[in-house]
Amino acid sequence: MNEPTDTQVAAIDRMVRLFYERGLADAVLGPIFFESIHDWEPHIAVVRDFWTDVIHRTTRYRGNAYAPHMKLDFGAEAFDHWLACFESAATDCLAPEESATAIRVARHMAQSFKVGLFPFTAPDGTPSRKPLAKPRTGT
Ligand code: HEM
Repeated sequence: MNEPTDTQVAAIDRMVRLFYERGLADAVLGPIFFESIHDWEPHIAVVRDFWTDVIHRTTRYRGNAYAPHMKLDFGAEAFDHWLACFESAATDCLAPEESATAIRVARHMAQSFKVGLFPFTAPDGTPSRKPLAKPRTGT
């Protein structure tokens, strides 16, 4: 454990707010965030704790980061939008070695979430939540 300074935590807090500012302005992410997040300050505190753990190896976040995403209805293309907003917010708010850690973990988790939520492949090659319907045999 590497206890972060108040300034370091404040930078993460700014990053989370900037991420949501950009996400809410994004055509794909905006409606998803708007639909599911209503109590913004507690949510921002939870996400700030999550990223503080990732960057500074603290143990503040008590949740399960994957679980809430299972009930959200969004397409796999949302991940590219999410990463673009996250990476720009991390780069703009954090020290270079902090943003490098956050971006590395974000890319890895985004990939894991994507595989977990979209385990199938649609006929056009895009990730899909559901398996293909069995073709009718006519018998
Ligand atoms: C397509 C990509 C994503 C979308 C649309 C998305 C959307 C959301 C939404 C709407 C919530 C609030 C859910 C609720 O409170 O009911 C949430 C929570 C959260 N997300 Fe994501 N997310 C995405 C990817 C990620 C990734 C890749 C990470 C981690 C690197 C992440 C970390 C979190 C965390 C830590 C929470 C808080 C969970 C809690 O309340 O304990 N998200 N996300």
